[in-house]
Amino acid sequence: MSRLDEIAKRRTFAIVSHPDAGKTTLTEKLLLFGGAIQVAGAVKSNKIKRSATSDFMEIERQRGISVATSVMGFEYQGIKINILDTPGHQDFAEDTFRTLTAVDSVIVVVDVAKGVEPQTRKLVEVCRRRDTPIIVFVNKMDREGKDGFDLLDEIEKELKLTVCPLSWPIGMGQDFTGVYNIYENKLRLFRAHGKQTEEDTIQIDDLSSEILDQNVPERLAEELRGETEIINEVYPKFSTEDYLNAKLSPVFFGSAINNFGVKEMLDCFIQIAPTPQSCETEERVVEPEEEKFTGFVFKIHANIDPKHRDRIAFVRICSGTFERNKNYLHVRHNKKLKFSSPTSFMAAKKSIVDQAFPGDIVGLHDPGRFKIGDTLTEGEKLNFKGIPSFSPEMFKAVLNADPMKAKQLEKGIDQLMDEGLAQLFTMTINNKKIIGTVGQLQFEVIQYRLEHEYGAKCRYEGVSLHKAIWVTAEDDDKMYEFKKKKHRFMALDKDGKDVFLAESAWMLKMAQEDFPDIQFHFTSEV
Ligand code: G4P
Repeated sequence: MSRLDEIAKRRTFAIVSHPDAGKTTLTEKLLLFGGAIQVAGAVKSNKIKRSATSDFMEIERQRGISVATSVMGFEYQGIKINILDTPGHQDFAEDTFRTLTAVDSVIVVVDVAKGVEPQTRKLVEVCRRRDTPIIVFVNKMDREGKDGFDLLDEIEKELKLTVCPLSWPIGMGQDFTGVYNIYENKLRLFRAHGKQTEEDTIQIDDLSSEILDQNVPERLAEELRGETEIINEVYPKFSTEDYLNAKLSPVFFGSAINNFGVKEMLDCFIQIAPTPQSCETEERVVEPEEEKFTGFVFKIHANIDPKHRDRIAFVRICSGTFERNKNYLHVRHNKKLKFSSPTSFMAAKKSIVDQAFPGDIVGLHDPGRFKIGDTLTEGEKLNFKGIPSFSPEMFKAVLNADPMKAKQLEKGIDQLMDEGLAQLFTMTINNKKIIGTVGQLQFEVIQYRLEHEYGAKCRYEGVSLHKAIWVTAEDDDKMYEFKKKKHRFMALDKDGKDVFLAESAWMLKMAQEDFPDIQFHFTSEV
């Protein structure tokens, strides 16, 4: 198969949701369709659940939370699908944001009863900023939930998406009878526990046909007829182009646990979802069809074996063909590196690959050379853009709890920050190290890993901070003036960028008012 054919058959995406909406369940069902895992029916099995999520780290196993972002590849109808799993725990939201830079599209899972939840809002905002095409899957239709139209209104309003239902539920909860697939004019009847057969899918070209009445209770048939009329009037017609331009999001309804509505979405997904897209670098746009290999590190993961500090760097291939044992340029270090055992991820299995193509993710063994955002090329000096850091929500000063291990502590903190586990700010006034995280759990992970992997001990000291804001100014004098006035609150991030650590929202507001020539950035993409 030619390189261009390989590119054309790839679909790389992430499933995102607020915890508990059903992301893991949906992922499992997709893997089932791809034959990546086998299980009779849709019996809930923890074993599968475990293999559908990554558990590289001991700490994850201990806590039972999937801290990691894993990659699952499988083939379905000739299409190579790469699902990048994202951590369900909101304390690891930064991981998810970074993963979103490595995908070409996203499926957002919304719980029909809970509607749009905070985590979903944040994640979709990141997708919107990057114009990532989004499909919405409304899950748990076997439960009582919100009215379909109310929910679509909520999605439009809260997620700022223009939606277009491609399937429509018939009843819900106790009454859930199935979905009408608007995209293919098919009625699909619901049988609990995934016991669907071919006969449960009925072609209906015209909803006034009595075939509908023969299969659906009268009240629900009438409702469906009325509702599809409203859909035709109110929502834009589906257009693949609008979806690909992130202007329109198709919506599907189903029940992941019952494996219902999942295949419809997957079949549509492989038809419409984008193939590997171009990637922006600071220097130029890289097209996937280019002959020369380029890729970037979007995730660094501590290795499975806690006795070795080695890590895996996850690289998204942007162009060309990645080959095992070939020399590539690590642009930041200006050093040639070759990789003898790059891994690919097929479902829960890892295996060594000789070649990988744009859209693929390879795992590279990393003894500590890589940092999130690093670029690999065949020699060209490129730097991929857009691995954002957001202001952390929680801050603590980190102190050495074992003076004999100061070096280990420094190295540990440095490497854990390179992995992107948290953000480090060094106060300019006294070199105090402040760690910023999205949640409490990250502090615990850092402390645990410093002790177990680096033999260093730390303790935390509470600091009262509201936000870390990256600051820039066109005029150096203005910047100097700002830094002088605010010297007690100034710090450097790990890349040496100036950061203003605001103690309160009010203090930030005052600073913005008092220094109109200073630009305040809420992400590190400055
Ligand atoms: P997440 O990855 O988004 O956090 O969600 P996950 O798939 O783990 O699902 C969260 C809970 O919702 C699970 O139940 C799961 O079984 C349930 N669930 C998923 N899809 C559906 C659905 O279509 N209908 C219904 N009724 N429930 C669904 P749990 O009790 O929290 O976990 P478990 O003990 O069953 O594993």
